[in-house]
Amino acid sequence: MRIQVRSLVGYVLVAVVIAIAMPAQPAELASPDGSIRFSLEIGDFGIPYYSVAFDDEQVIEPSALGLRFDANPGLDRHLAIATVEHESSDSTWEQPWGERRLVRDRHNEMFVVLRVTDGPRREVGLRVRVFDDGVGFRYELAEQQQYGEVDVVAELTEFRIPLDARGWWIPGRAWNRHEFLYRESRLEEIALANTPVTFKLASGTHLSLHEAALVDYAGYVLDQRRDGVFRTNLTPWSDGIRVRTKTPFVTPWRTIQIADSAAGLLNSDLILNLNEPNALGDVSWVEPGKYIGIWWAMHINERTWGSGPKHGASTEETKRYIDFAAEHGFDGVLVEGWNVGWDGNWFFNGEIFSFTEAYPDFDLDAVTDYALERGVRLIGHHETSGHVANYERQLEAAYDLYAANGVRQIKTGYVADGGDLVRIDDKGIRRLEWHDGQFSARHHVHVLEQAAKRKISINTHEPIKDTGLRRTYPNWISREGARGQEFNAWGTPPNPPEHTVMLPFTRMLSGPMDFTPGIFDLTFAGEDAEQRVSTTLAKQLALYVVLYSPIQMAADLPENYDRFPDAFQFIKDVPTDWEESIALAGEVGDFVVIARQERGSADWYLGAITDEHARNVAVPLTFLPDGGRFEATIYQDGEGAHWRENPYSYGIERRILSSDDRLDIELAAGGGTAIRFTPID
Ligand code: NOJ
Ligand code: CA
Repeated sequence: MRIQVRSLVGYVLVAVVIAIAMPAQPAELASPDGSIRFSLEIGDFGIPYYSVAFDDEQVIEPSALGLRFDANPGLDRHLAIATVEHESSDSTWEQPWGERRLVRDRHNEMFVVLRVTDGPRREVGLRVRVFDDGVGFRYELAEQQQYGEVDVVAELTEFRIPLDARGWWIPGRAWNRHEFLYRESRLEEIALANTPVTFKLASGTHLSLHEAALVDYAGYVLDQRRDGVFRTNLTPWSDGIRVRTKTPFVTPWRTIQIADSAAGLLNSDLILNLNEPNALGDVSWVEPGKYIGIWWAMHINERTWGSGPKHGASTEETKRYIDFAAEHGFDGVLVEGWNVGWDGNWFFNGEIFSFTEAYPDFDLDAVTDYALERGVRLIGHHETSGHVANYERQLEAAYDLYAANGVRQIKTGYVADGGDLVRIDDKGIRRLEWHDGQFSARHHVHVLEQAAKRKISINTHEPIKDTGLRRTYPNWISREGARGQEFNAWGTPPNPPEHTVMLPFTRMLSGPMDFTPGIFDLTFAGEDAEQRVSTTLAKQLALYVVLYSPIQMAADLPENYDRFPDAFQFIKDVPTDWEESIALAGEVGDFVVIARQERGSADWYLGAITDEHARNVAVPLTFLPDGGRFEATIYQDGEGAHWRENPYSYGIERRILSSDDRLDIELAAGGGTAIRFTPID
């Protein structure tokens, strides 16, 4: 059977082949280019096992599948393959904003029904998609007599990784949520890990394990149960149940991205391709852009969130920021600490935050009117300190207030130890929940829907992990979910030079990050202080290209930009919305080079960054269109630059270059290069 369906951008070609009677074992599925092969078979005791091969290498060794429920019988043994259906699809869809405008979704699909071999009929579907850049599969439970309401108590999905692999990971289900330094280790050192987790096999093949489309379900952490055998450990509710649901339901996709190089992982669209299309319709009100804010001043203790002589969010100070934004072309001004509730220890004060009442020295109407007059928008802020119940009580009124004042983006925050989100249950009892559990998954979608009704976009800090839901809810404009710039102000230790060359190959594989680059006063606490930004100044510029986010902050104080106007020009020029992005080179935790074309323009940008080691990288400029000549404005580490000894040494050079050229990029220790390419003919 061949069906042609008109899609948004082109044609989707769908070929369906149905094979029902007596399916062959194992059930197999290859990627469109044939390089990746997924295989499913039934082992002893009727336990299903899958494996994945990449060219001639088994990258996932036979790994069990299954689900267990609280009161119902499990679907984890005595199973047989009942039916297998195959189909394939090739389509292209358009992102309203993103690291590339057009995304190709080319995959082969297999739907396998696994049915119990004893007792009354019970079955689970396994939907598998194999792309040229990896594999996704999920469980699908149809409505059936044995399963109505079900409480999932365990998912037994395994990923058996070859033992000689190495991994890059952060601890899972730990107090600081996703805000840890990435570790590189042999497999045996990994116990519980947050995803995405990146592995490098002895052959050089790279894998990233994660999930896509986490909706009304629990996120999982990878749990090493036996040597090399990682299991999906679903994050529990406070009562131990992992997921409360009813049939029919589908789980999130379990994903395995596969590439023959580290940079190859960065060019994968698999997570987005496994999410549902935009559910919000016209999202022209979701606006990528750049912002400044009353923010860093609090982190370095020059100002306070709470009231008092150093209160940051005063009307006067906000107007100063608005003036600076207007003068330099920024779209937004974030203001933190304007609303009542910050006094005392706000880490533990979640229940007293008001999201509508301002401190007396902050006039919301005056500030937003002034901003709009100057062509700038206020960016809202809701720190909840993890008290989700308090926030949900005020959500609609708080969003109405911001919407009435022309606010189009809100940064939210859930500062609370992992496992300490406050929920009030049906009986009025206070429960504590995880940031990655089903409660949190539901809360975030509720927030997005309420925000969308008012044409507001959300930038979540201390978020649930990103699983690509920005495709379905394009107003989920960014999020944190890793150690950001703020750790340089007070983190022990601050982010070391290698942190930002870890992020692209780990956290950023899940989606955009509001890292907040652009600190120019790198030694704000004095040259000898431990607290500092451990990069060169040029590297701060390169981060705008390397760490993708549709909204980027210029995080420093306005007066520090006035000290370096020529370098500041790059921050003013660099766009945040892209036609295309290409990772050109890199190794996890060592260095990375990324080129991106501005959306709606012929300009290209390049960012290259390194860890604590100086290095030279030769970059062929083959990403530039053939034949065209470009003026390249190159912001690079200067003479003797070094992140610790000499971080402010930088130079700006102009050269004429074309796609035939090769650029030799010299990166200082902890350094970076940022380039703007503008066509000249
Ligand atoms: C943590 C966020 O990551 C940071 O950006 C914010 O300033 C504070 N919480 C206060 O909300
Ligand atoms: Ca944070």
